[in-house]
Amino acid sequence: MKILLTGKNGQIGQELQRSLAPLGEIIAYDRSGLNLAVADSIVAAVRSAGPEVLINAAGYTAVDQAEREPEAAHAVNALGVAVLAEEAKRAGALLIHYSTDYVFDGLQDRPYVEEDAPNPLNVYGVSKLAGERAIRQIDCAHLILRTSWVYAERGRNFFLTMRRLLAQKQEVRIVSDQIGAPTFAGDLAAATAGLLGDPGAPALGERRGVYHMTASGGTSWHGFATAIARLEGVDPLTRVVPIPSEAYATAARRPKNSRLSNKKLLREFGIALPSWEASLAVCHARLAGAR
Ligand SMILES: NC(=O)c1ccc[n+]([C@@H]2O[C@H](COP(=O)([O-])OP(=O)(O)OC[C@H]3O[C@@H](n4cnc5c(N)ncnc54)[C@H](OP(=O)(O)O)[C@@H]3O)[C@@H](O)[C@H]2O)c1
Repeated sequence: MKILLTGKNGQIGQELQRSLAPLGEIIAYDRSGLNLAVADSIVAAVRSAGPEVLINAAGYTAVDQAEREPEAAHAVNALGVAVLAEEAKRAGALLIHYSTDYVFDGLQDRPYVEEDAPNPLNVYGVSKLAGERAIRQIDCAHLILRTSWVYAERGRNFFLTMRRLLAQKQEVRIVSDQIGAPTFAGDLAAATAGLLGDPGAPALGERRGVYHMTASGGTSWHGFATAIARLEGVDPLTRVVPIPSEAYATAARRPKNSRLSNKKLLREFGIALPSWEASLAVCHARLAGAR
């Protein structure tokens, strides 16, 4: 299988390079090889690679910054994704694309299922939803995988930020009224490889659908920080203080309920990601091992 991967240096992209390796030839691009903001760059990269599968792990992911530069977010997350989808269709290739819990407004009190109506609260969510819609409208073979609260041993993420803050500050104040599933990029990559390696699933060119793909279980940002503190040997009761969202001003509004139901992924592909606690321990141990 020939697989084109975008965003090879991102959190998910780096993990995908590892997980996809057994499946065939991986042609992995960073921004200089395939720039999602430049249509010609996308077309040239896809046509020269001639892949059977395109995996888009690139994206404009700076959620707060997007409020100040909506055009830049839209160019990458919507327009660039549309060009990728057109190229996938032209090549008869499957497009696997990552989307987000932030397509929802979080007002519902149960986990969101794929059929629930999106209603993003912020510019980033609007741009990601536009990307999803472009893929569906262009109607290439596709799997849109919505995930949440991604972290890894490298990159910009809550896990690494919290480790740094706990080392620097006596007390950290963390939002406790937004709930979701912290999801390890390594698990997303393994599950994505599992989708491609599933012999019982429909042929690549026939696949179409949105799937929620997050760690099992859920917690608040405060619960996530508490678990990180424990792994770091820090007492969370005295050092990690819960606060409401209103006490932590951010440029972008975020949903209070980011929980995504993963039942469709389990039903159709037999895939479930490990619990967020188990994977956090794995990621923490990997980091400790690398020191
Ligand atoms: N992080 C989360 O919590 C989260 C949650 C839900 C969904 N997702 C989605 O999952 C996907 C991957 O997320 P991630 O956390 O792995 O992201 P990440 O670590 O921020 O990596 C994103 C990658 O996209 C690349 N990129 C940015 N603009 C680009 C452009 N114009 N052309 C080509 N590449 C570009 C970046 O390259 P540079 O290194 O050059 O900037 C970076 O390698 C994204 O679609 C994101 O929306 C993420």
